Amino acid sequence: ARAELTIDPAFEVGEVNPRLFGSFVEHLGRCVYSGIYEPDHPTATPDGLRGDVLALIAELGVTLVRYPGGNFVSGYRWEDGVGEHRPRRLDPAWSTVETNEFGLNEFMRFTGATGVEPMMAINLGTRGPQEARELLEYCNHPGGTAWSDWRRSHGAPDPHGISLWCLGNELDGPWQMGHKTAEEYGRVAAEAARVMRMTDPSVRLVACGSSNSGMPTFGAWEATVLEHTYRHVDYVSCHAYYEEIDGDVDSFLASAQDMEHFIDSVVATCDHVRAKHRHDKRIQLSFDEWNVWYRRLRDVDAEPKWEVAPRLLEDNYTLTDAVVVGSLLVTLLRHCDRVSAACLAQLVNVIAPIMTEPGGPAWRQTSFYPFADAARHGRGRVLRVEPRSSRQDTAQYGTVDLLHSTAVRGEDGAVTLFAVNRSTDRSLELTANLRATGARRVAGATTLTDRDRHARNTREQPGRVQPRALDEVVLEDGVVTAVLPPLSWNVIRIA
Ligand code: AHR
Repeated sequence: ARAELTIDPAFEVGEVNPRLFGSFVEHLGRCVYSGIYEPDHPTATPDGLRGDVLALIAELGVTLVRYPGGNFVSGYRWEDGVGEHRPRRLDPAWSTVETNEFGLNEFMRFTGATGVEPMMAINLGTRGPQEARELLEYCNHPGGTAWSDWRRSHGAPDPHGISLWCLGNELDGPWQMGHKTAEEYGRVAAEAARVMRMTDPSVRLVACGSSNSGMPTFGAWEATVLEHTYRHVDYVSCHAYYEEIDGDVDSFLASAQDMEHFIDSVVATCDHVRAKHRHDKRIQLSFDEWNVWYRRLRDVDAEPKWEVAPRLLEDNYTLTDAVVVGSLLVTLLRHCDRVSAACLAQLVNVIAPIMTEPGGPAWRQTSFYPFADAARHGRGRVLRVEPRSSRQDTAQYGTVDLLHSTAVRGEDGAVTLFAVNRSTDRSLELTANLRATGARRVAGATTLTDRDRHARNTREQPGRVQPRALDEVVLEDGVVTAVLPPLSWNVIRIA
């Protein structure tokens, strides 16, 4: 199979916002407890954070972390997680017991230790604008009021200065505590947004979009919500999870087609409301939950056991899953003009790139690698890439290109080509014309692939799947040639 493309710095999509490389920490399973936080762990910092996990987060290159949920936030009382008194409470979202040992100020210490930006979600399920406003005053007001002085009494003398706020979570979903119609949500989100901006005009707000593109209200939800909130918010959210269903690997490998359709549809809806009401600003997309997630394999107990931090949603990713994650990253980058924040859901243990054992080691899942590559080399300006490639038929998405790719030009002029070969059995002979970039040398080339598409990293074999050098990448007269192995994620850097 073959693919050809041309890269020219004259044709740009836009600048990559570093917030595109965000992730997500929810009070769910072992994401917090024995994930990022384990005071008794041999590597624990004085704040109880796992040092080995902090090191992996730094290597992953995460820039932004959404917190504290997810479905969890829609029944959460943030006051339970601050100060001395930490009540144990049922979490109906995941049928567990939340000890509240870890809360807002512990999370802010985590963001300080990792250097990530916080993205805070408020409870607009069972609570409303008043509690949101109080939380914001607690976090961002310098002092001299009851809420801000309460924070100061909790060992945080300086305001947290949290800029990004999610106005609830997935309130279009019937599974959500406090689920709402688009009208109901639109009104309450607009009022929460207004009162939050009156408290701190510097905040940037995200309205809830659809929980996935298959929701019966998809499209109509965004339109109605934006009718109410357009003036008050900056982003609308998108959430999407993909999985291989009944062995249909070719459709799974083309999952980015759905993400593409999702983004195009939401952008069209935002711009429709903009035109209709003659607004100046453009709403941006916050793709603040995305990943591979085997929801069908989820073990849901009919009888809740009400355990503390049980093993939930601990998907063990394969090479195939990692290639799909890479392809979803390509899509986010290709739309960087409108997608200006995104969160890989989640960060540790729960559908995550990093796994841990309590008291034991931490290791990288297969999906760790494409994210780390993109977060590291996907900085700068995305260039238009319109490949001509061999194609294959899929049951879900029709005929798709085997090559899925994008290119990013860094400040130093170096160009990184991210390229996925979606074929499970054919190599892809790639010819990339980079003459217009002044390409001089191949600065590096790696591939993530494996002869077994089901290969995974485990505690016993943490290094089973990892990137290796992609050999025989040749640059001649500004034209790069390379052979991309079947089912692979590739990074080619040209200086
Ligand atoms: O990330 C897991 C769950 O997926 C989140 O709690 C929820 O928002 C989504 O449905």
